[in-house]
Amino acid sequence: MAEIDMRKVDEIIGRYKGEEGVLIQLLLDLQSEFNWISPEAIARISEQMRIPKSQIYRIATFYKAMSLKPVGRHIIQVCLGTACQVRGAPKILDRVEENLKIKEGATTSDMRFTLKRVNCLGCCAMGPVIVVDGTYHGKITPSMVEDILEQYE
Ligand code: FES
Repeated sequence: MAEIDMRKVDEIIGRYKGEEGVLIQLLLDLQSEFNWISPEAIARISEQMRIPKSQIYRIATFYKAMSLKPVGRHIIQVCLGTACQVRGAPKILDRVEENLKIKEGATTSDMRFTLKRVNCLGCCAMGPVIVVDGTYHGKITPSMVEDILEQYE
């Protein structure tokens, strides 16, 4: 589980304390600092800003940019849309899972990668496609997977 430095959480809360209508920005700052928003951080915001936890959870679950689970430093999306499937995407996903020793939806124990499966990234002609941190890798084969993953520390 990713460690959260509560001093850093307090510092971020300190930027907004006493101000109104800042909860979304505060949560986005926490997300960008830690890559996720932990229950401890939510409890601290609730206590310091006098905002009910339920309201904080409501916002954190509504915005896709926020995560309530720890995510890796790099996000890999493997496309399993129809066009990519017929071009061998399931074998790409198998190879990524094998290489990282995790299943789709999970995060490596060293917090390096989170693996997600997606349906069509809108560039079917490039299939099979994987996207790492927003960078598209197209027409890939299982043997290319290792080289791609090695580019990300
Ligand atoms: S099906 Fe993979 S990009 Fe469209």
